[in-house]
Amino acid sequence: MRKLLVTGAAGFIGTNFVNYWHAKKPGDAIVALDSLTYAGNAANLEPLRHEPKFTFIEGDIRDQPLIADLLINYQIDTIVHFAAESHVDRSITGPDAFLETNIIGTHSLLKAAKQIWVDGDFPIKNHHFHHVSTDEVYGSLGRDGSPFCESTPYAPNSPYAASKAASDHLVRAYSQTFKLNTTTSNCSNNYGPFQFPEKLLPLCILNILLGKPIPIYGDGQQIRDWLFVDDHNTAIELVLSSEANGETYNVGGHNEIRNLDVVKLLCVLLDTRFARDETLKLRFPHSPCAKNISAVSLIAFVRDRPGHDVRYAIDASKIKSTFNFLPSETFATGLEKTVDWYLKNQSWWENIQNGSYRVKSN
Ligand SMILES: NC(=O)c1ccc[n+]([C@@H]2O[C@H](COP(=O)([O-])OP(=O)(O)OC[C@H]3O[C@@H](n4cnc5c(N)ncnc54)[C@H](O)[C@@H]3O)[C@@H](O)[C@H]2O)c1
Repeated sequence: MRKLLVTGAAGFIGTNFVNYWHAKKPGDAIVALDSLTYAGNAANLEPLRHEPKFTFIEGDIRDQPLIADLLINYQIDTIVHFAAESHVDRSITGPDAFLETNIIGTHSLLKAAKQIWVDGDFPIKNHHFHHVSTDEVYGSLGRDGSPFCESTPYAPNSPYAASKAASDHLVRAYSQTFKLNTTTSNCSNNYGPFQFPEKLLPLCILNILLGKPIPIYGDGQQIRDWLFVDDHNTAIELVLSSEANGETYNVGGHNEIRNLDVVKLLCVLLDTRFARDETLKLRFPHSPCAKNISAVSLIAFVRDRPGHDVRYAIDASKIKSTFNFLPSETFATGLEKTVDWYLKNQSWWENIQNGSYRVKSN
């Protein structure tokens, strides 16, 4: 039986990971840690609250004594580190929080893990620190550049990417210098349930439902690779189940697509849903789809983001050849699942939009 500390567990990927892991390995103990920033939503984890093997702790990864206590008290042998400030736009308007959480916070976690697992009186030999990172650390590719592989030099362009790059280097340093058993995954854009509606896909879905403009940066020609969140979870599971130590893995969806095309796909998908299901017209009367007008009519080009990377693409051959990992969702099936989830979970996103998700229950 494994005992995991999952940081950032009330955020988008953390929530999906905890649900995924609990469903697949119900015998494992999970301590979910989150400081509940604007991006963390305690309600996401509510269904697990009464599970005997699940514990939620509201706390900050920068609090090294807290982390050390958790490692001891829950006999944690595995850390899966998602906690981060994650939105590029916010890193441009307020980079400090990104340095605090992504760099200082990751360093606190590493120090606590070293203190307990390596230097402690009863070191845990089979410990595993998995750091979840991003393809954005590699910077921007030209339209014809070779996809990022694990040896591509880091060239982060946004404060977000720079802070994640720094955290990756710290993880590597703790592996090399202090013999902490670490792995890192650098993943492309994730999408799926529970994604905070400031990110492209949920923003687009909700704006179509509510009849609001869909803002597209610049000409919308920026290319990203997209991976359904549970495929990312599978990749992390494979890495955690292995003896890998000191390795990094690039994880991608084999699915490069222009931002404008992503938005158009979603527009067509929602046009079709509204045409098929009359109840959607009653639920979302402000959507153009309710008046038989295509959602494409909502697309509005806005001033480009400063330093906007042109293209990210992942060479995922290492994780494929090592673990036989390939995503199981296509972009079409993943988008259908994502749209289904936002349609079924209207109160989840309404609570975010009206701010009530931040009101603490006692
Ligand atoms: N979303 C993506 O497309 C993507 C792609 C590749 C990698 N990643 C990485 O995956 C991880 C998770 O991303 P996400 O999209 O779920 O982010 P998110 O913003 O949805 O969630 C981050 C969570 O971390 C928590 N948090 C922030 N600061 C904290 C602190 N100091 N202490 C404890 N908790 C804190 C927040 O409350 C939130 O619940 C991040 O490290 C991100 O860099 C994300």
